[in-house]
Parts: sequence; C-alpha cells; structure tokens
Amino acid sequence: MIPIAQPHIGPEEQKVVQEVLASGMLAQGPRVAAFEEAFADFMGVEHAVAVASGTEAIRLALLAIGVGPNSEVIIPAFTFVATATAVMMTGAEPVIVDVEEETFCMDPVAAEAAVTRKTKAIMPVHLYGHPADMGPLLDICQERDLDLVEDAAQSHGARWKDRRTGSVGEVGCFSFYPTKNMTTGEGGAVTTSTPEVAERLRMLRQHGLAGPYQYRMLGYNSRMTDIEAAIGLVQLGTLEGFNTARRMNAETLTEFLEDVVRTPTTASWAEHVFHQYTIRSEDRDGLWDHMRKREVGCGVYYPHPVSEIPILEGKSRVAGSVEVATRLSHEVLSLPVHPGLSSQDVETVAMAVREFYR
Ligand SMILES: Cc1ncc(COP(=O)(O)O)c(C=O)c1O
Repeated sequence: MIPIAQPHIGPEEQKVVQEVLASGMLAQGPRVAAFEEAFADFMGVEHAVAVASGTEAIRLALLAIGVGPNSEVIIPAFTFVATATAVMMTGAEPVIVDVEEETFCMDPVAAEAAVTRKTKAIMPVHLYGHPADMGPLLDICQERDLDLVEDAAQSHGARWKDRRTGSVGEVGCFSFYPTKNMTTGEGGAVTTSTPEVAERLRMLRQHGLAGPYQYRMLGYNSRMTDIEAAIGLVQLGTLEGFNTARRMNAETLTEFLEDVVRTPTTASWAEHVFHQYTIRSEDRDGLWDHMRKREVGCGVYYPHPVSEIPILEGKSRVAGSVEVATRLSHEVLSLPVHPGLSSQDVETVAMAVREFYR
C-alpha cells in the first residue's frame, strides 16, 4: 500500500532524541528555546512560542489576543474540526462562512458579510498548504479593527506573496502532528511580532507564570518537551527541501491527470506547499474504493463541512450559505504527494486514477 502520509524520521532525529534523553532535561528547556528562535527566524517574525499541539496553539493564541465569552471568531466551513473547537474552548462562538471554489480557503466576501459587533477575529485556514486570499482579509480586519489569526497548521513554509503563511496576521498557529509537512511528534507553535502577545502566550502555556511563583493569569500546562523540540530543529532544516519534493510530485500528478479529473490550482500570489494534493470527482467514493483496491492510500479531508459536526450545534453560527464547502465535502479526494514517494510511486498513483476513468 502506498501510504497517504509518511513522517520522515531519519538517523539525525534519532541521534538528537538520544542526546536529549542522555541529558536528563526532558521537559521545556534549552532545545525548546532554540527551536523557537529558529522557527521565528524561518517565519520572519519576532517571536515563536512552542506549545503542546496545533489545537493548543489556536486556543492560546485566541486567548492571548483577548478572545473569550461574548465574542465571535469567523472561520471557514471547510477545515479540520479543531479550527472550530479551539474557538469554542475559549468560550467564544465560531461563526462559519463558506470557502472559495479554487483555493478551498475562506471566501473573504462571505467573511466580511459575517462581521457583527461581537466579532473579535477572522481566522482563515491555509488548507492543504495553499494560502488563503490574505489581501482582502487584511483590509477587512484593518477597516473593522479585528485581529487576523492564521490557522497555518497545514502550511509550513508556504507563502502569500513574499510572506510566509503564519507571519501575515497578528498571530499564526502551527501544528507539528506527524502527518504535517514537518513534525515534532505532537506539538504546535504560535508566531507573532507583537511582544505583549508573545509574553501572554508564554504565561498561558505555563500556569500563568511571569517569574518564580508569580502567577499573573489563569494559565495551563501546554508546554512542548525538549525531546519534541530537538526533532523539530532537525525537521525545520529539511522542510524547504521536502516542500520542493512535494511540489514536484504535485506537478507530475497534474501532468498525468489534468485531462481526466479536476486537479488543484495555485493562485498567482501563492506558493503552495502541498500538505495535501486534492482532486475532485463526482464519483469520489467510487474512485476512493478503486484506489484502495489498487493499494493506494487516499484520504477525504473533510467528509463534512464543520457546520454539520454535531458538537458544534447550538454553539456556533452559520453565516450565509456554505454551498461550496458542502459540495467539496462530497467531491474531494487527497492522493499521496509526500516526499517519501519514489517517481515510480507517483506514476502508480496517477495511473490508478486514470484507470478508473478509462
Ligand atoms: C487546519 C488544522 N487546524 C488545527 C489542527 C490541530 O492541530 P493538532 O492536531 O496538532 O492539535 C490541525 C491538525 O490536525 C489542522 O489540520
């Protein structure tokens, strides 16, 4: 079976983990600080604050900018559940809007129409590694005095114009889950160039601590370990090369497939990092079944718009139609595109799709 995702953990990652284990410094320590510095540098921001997961990155980022009960955060209808539940965890209400047909990301017109007096932030998701259309979203946030929060959990290294996703808004939220373009095992990070936000994030992730036994706010334990950070430092070094490999695999898949299925597009202002390579098919489930029989692992991200997830019922608001997200949820199928694929694997994946349409 060709897997849909394959974390690359090589001898270097194994060596640095051994070193951390031998050092006895297992919790948040010098490697976390070094990883934060390297990640901030890579992103072109002043601060990166490492946390326990991508979900925690979103939750703490929202808390750090003042999101809480009686506020609303606008999110896209087509995303992973954590985009929405992290908002709910702060006590705020997710307001769900439709996405664009071409980018799969938040529709800025729908986002603007959803703004109310309670809106505190707009949170686009750079889905599948393709940046959301940040230009109009930045304008809306500036005009309405809202914070732009980026869910960059799937877009490590992608660029909107010449800026990395996660460095455009007030805060950027990353996940380092094993299937992501880079991993730390579990883990996350928040990027920001606002020192006060970074300071609040550091307190929020560690019991509200401002110094020894100085508890300034209700804080949590959302730390990253030195074991995870050591892996992250190695992975950050290979990210750009792996993203290039993903783009090349995507290009090959498109060459093989564009005459038989709807292949993904890249906007003129975007540098895509292909966390997923996602095609669209009116007989998605039939194609998925066929791919399984051909021993090609595929994925459906996501089978429902978030507005249809029962745990959000009564705790979120759908603003306008989510027609595009609903259609996408029936049509999308992600094919393997990760850097672990050989050129033979890429051809096998493409030929299996072509065979279905023969
Ligand atoms: C768009 C999006 N947001 C948030 C998350 C949550 O990240 P994590 O699984 O690290 O908590 C993920 C990853 O799974 C994601 O894909």
